[in-house]
Amino acid sequence: MTDHHHEEAVEALLHENRRFAPSADFVATANVGPNVYAEAAADPEAWWAEQARTLEWATPFTSVLEWEPPFARWFSDGTLNASVNCLDRHVAAGRGEKVALHWVGEPEGEAADITYAELLERTCRAANALESLGVEAGDRVVIYMPMIPEAIVAMLACARIGAPHSVIFGGFSAEALADRITDADAQVIITADGGFRRGVASGLKVEVDAALTLCPAVTTSLVVRRTGQEVGWVEGRDLWWHDVVDPAAPTHEPKAFAAEHPLYIMYTSGTTAKPKGIFHTTGGYLTHTSTTHRLVFDIKPETDICWTSADIGWVTGHSYIVYGPLANGVTQVMYEGTPDAGGKDRWWRIIEDYKVTILYTAPTAIRTFMKWGAEFPAGHDLSSLRLLGSVGEPINPEAWMWYRKHIGGGRCPIVDTWWQTETGGIMITPLPGVTATKPGAAMVPFPGISAEIVDNDGDPVPDGHGGLLVITRPWPGMLRGIWGDPERYADTYWSKFDGMYFAGDGAKRDDDGDMWLLGRVDDVMNVSGHRLSTAEVEHALVGHPAVAEAAVVGAHDQITGQAIVAFVTLTASSELHGADDREIIASIRAHVAEAISPIAKPRQVILTPELPKTRSGKIMRRLLRDIAEHRALGDVTTLTDPTVVNMIDGLMAVHAEDD
Ligand code: WTA
Repeated sequence: MTDHHHEEAVEALLHENRRFAPSADFVATANVGPNVYAEAAADPEAWWAEQARTLEWATPFTSVLEWEPPFARWFSDGTLNASVNCLDRHVAAGRGEKVALHWVGEPEGEAADITYAELLERTCRAANALESLGVEAGDRVVIYMPMIPEAIVAMLACARIGAPHSVIFGGFSAEALADRITDADAQVIITADGGFRRGVASGLKVEVDAALTLCPAVTTSLVVRRTGQEVGWVEGRDLWWHDVVDPAAPTHEPKAFAAEHPLYIMYTSGTTAKPKGIFHTTGGYLTHTSTTHRLVFDIKPETDICWTSADIGWVTGHSYIVYGPLANGVTQVMYEGTPDAGGKDRWWRIIEDYKVTILYTAPTAIRTFMKWGAEFPAGHDLSSLRLLGSVGEPINPEAWMWYRKHIGGGRCPIVDTWWQTETGGIMITPLPGVTATKPGAAMVPFPGISAEIVDNDGDPVPDGHGGLLVITRPWPGMLRGIWGDPERYADTYWSKFDGMYFAGDGAKRDDDGDMWLLGRVDDVMNVSGHRLSTAEVEHALVGHPAVAEAAVVGAHDQITGQAIVAFVTLTASSELHGADDREIIASIRAHVAEAISPIAKPRQVILTPELPKTRSGKIMRRLLRDIAEHRALGDVTTLTDPTVVNMIDGLMAVHAEDD
């Protein structure tokens, strides 16, 4: 069920074939030349091995790839430490005084510049503190934090002692947090009292307290004081970061771990109600993230100031705020808050103040800025920018052109990067100075990556035809599994086509052979770049006492890409009996926010006496999606009661859109 609106836009564009050749400036100085593709294709393993050797290994690897489908091992006899690669080696090379992070707090005037030497020292203290709390290599540590430097310190400290971290996005509710803590079987959680968002102090510790009532195995919660708000306290379990980490020793002797030692678990939505713990290991992941960061963003470590606007709680934060950029030793901006805190020009002020050269953000943010108006960026000097990136969802050509003109001053190349939590790093992207770019196209597989577009039988489709995106060879940053569920891993990604990774996205090549991503082909929705499954939201909906049955679809939305539309039937004897529809809908929406996160709140809830079902009892989501997107209804003859759809269509028209 790819996004029809997007597909139509792509169709229109394919006829125009707008194309920007690589700019001369980039061609002259790019980190690689056009032969990189041929070199990598000639021997992808050798090419990746060469990239891997740019890392610091305690024991150099001799084995490159062991592939027993669907299980891959990269560089498996090598050992290394991820935090040494991100910190110690830069300090040892005399770059300790270089700024690693220009951290910008949401409240005006709150900022800190943290050098690589300082980041190393803080990481060592935190590693020592975690060890003193009994955390050992292999133990999982959950991190639930705002966008503050301690979040990065906590991740790197875990990596340093070989304890896989699982960062949970701070927007998740206590219930969602508890599910993930339990699945990861963690005993330690690192959090903060709260964080600043939209000018107010939000509570994180309060969610942790509620979650931990459901997670008796958690012995320790380590709490950073960020906002100074009152917090509940459980003696013996809760510890202040400043009491435990600050006084710990400032140096820490790192151990080297096997390349395949787990580095982290990142939960993401699949097609069922249960989130998947995607796990990544160390050597291949660091190779993939540092190499793609260096080449896709054409990094010049001495002069670039990078800003990836993602949250640390998602994979983009892991790969392109923490591991890729820090392994490459660049200076970054990290911003705590929302784009309109302190004015709708906050981002442009930050870019001007810190002379950001590379901005990596999501289409949903770009569309929001478009809506606010070009006068906000126009009021600032953005001439330091030299490259722009996009990630998280298909970028519509209008947003691409606006980004190029109003943020990039018409001179910055745009890299539209396709990848997933599962892929670990960027997979399909242009290379600045090498490949052309086209508004809306992710263009070509990264060197050393083999992607194909196939039909349902796994046969390649001709250029110009839509199909399913698959990756045909293992790659270094690929997920090594789903935590605790190897069967689901094999099933989800490797069972549709023999020996090929099934991404779940639709795609198409144009007549030049360039790739366009068309959106998900499964029940995964993409709302503002956040991945959510229809089943997960339906599960939350039926948890509401008034809801009998629910069907959820992702419908096109101008700003968020997709928005959640829920069709709901009520129980006969609901406790809300007598309440008006408005109250019931408000209560249902609040319930979903509580069960998952405010990001999962349906844009619209349509109360209907019935849902359209086939004779075998399956809900016809395709029809509901047509209704939600106000499209002409297709074939309804397989329904038990074809009149149901017209009735729902009518209901849709009378329901005013919720906020
Ligand atoms: C979508 C985020 C089109 C896609 C890094 C994918 C994209 C899902 C793009 C992964 C892009 C991501 N163009 N679609 N440039 N980037 N997607 O795991 O549907 O949060 O499968 O990883 O986002 O989302 P995830």
